[in-house]
Amino acid sequence: LRSLEWRNGCLELLDQTALPGKTEQIVCDDYRRVAEAIRRLEVRGAPAIGAAAAFGVVLGARELASESKEFWPGLLAIAEELRQTRPTAVNLFWAIDRMMSVASRYGSEAVPADIVAALEEEALAIAAEDKTVNQRISEHGAALFGGKATVLTHCNAGALATVAFGTALGVIRQAWAEGKIERVFADETRPLLQGARLTAWELMQEGIPVTLITDNMAGWVMKKKMVEAVIVGADRITLSGDVANKIGTYSVAVLAKEHNIPFYVAAPLSTFDFSIASGDDIPIEERKSDEVTSLGGRRVAPEGVAVFNPAFDVTPSSLVTAIITEYGVLKPPFTAAITELQQKKGGII
Ligand code: MRU
Repeated sequence: LRSLEWRNGCLELLDQTALPGKTEQIVCDDYRRVAEAIRRLEVRGAPAIGAAAAFGVVLGARELASESKEFWPGLLAIAEELRQTRPTAVNLFWAIDRMMSVASRYGSEAVPADIVAALEEEALAIAAEDKTVNQRISEHGAALFGGKATVLTHCNAGALATVAFGTALGVIRQAWAEGKIERVFADETRPLLQGARLTAWELMQEGIPVTLITDNMAGWVMKKKMVEAVIVGADRITLSGDVANKIGTYSVAVLAKEHNIPFYVAAPLSTFDFSIASGDDIPIEERKSDEVTSLGGRRVAPEGVAVFNPAFDVTPSSLVTAIITEYGVLKPPFTAAITELQQKKGGII
């Protein structure tokens, strides 16, 4: 299962808005189409957005080189356009910054084709590393499980949300392979139903037992002792360990605390924003009201109703039991653990 693939100089995306009904590829040979795909959530999930944007930079640079346009101002503008697509997942900015730092090694007299080749190599490295990183996260995470556990997840942090394997679903995949998973409860994840459309589908593809619930059922499922752990992905983690993730994650974390259930976050180093201490400073994307007023393409709310549609929320570190990274499992106090991680590994993968 691949959310994206670089083939014949084009970025192929599995259209996640069409799943699970249709498996359709979108072939992007233009960075503008990549930007559009990120905005429309045809490609989504923090690591997948980052990798897609990296290939977007390659496509943009290639266009500039072939049209002998002003290369540097053009490249800066393309990077900025890609940065504007979605505000919350820091992997987007991490990947674009990484691409631009490769480009900036070349002087103004450099041959644009050489820069394009270096950018392509870097984007491929970002994609390849994502797979290895997720496998490491998954191994560290699976080690947290002992016997056969039933776990709950929110949104989709699987292969679809990354380049391969997944973060939270990667841990579940690995734990399943080790015989440590009984069943997964998947929150449907309103308004865009990533849990129902993507997580349920992804797990069923591999024969991992999954039970779909609506978001408002999570509390009751916990009360009935039907889940023993929660595991989710992240879009941005601050120095203090506050975690931005799909809207509804915070409610699940509060419920987990009330029911004494561990709440795990699985994320790569590229999801940490070391420049932000508190979750209050994480920019939260707000999306169009029709995502809330409609269900399955049909309007369900009265015309003219006021709508609030934040796409993410922030779970304070006090509700997080552990953060699973490719470098190991971080436990509270998170500020110390994350600072140590930053000092040892920050920026180097
Ligand atoms: O709006 P989305 O679908 O891009 O939101 C995705 C999530 O919130 C995921 O949980 C997060 O990006 C982690 S993906 C490994």
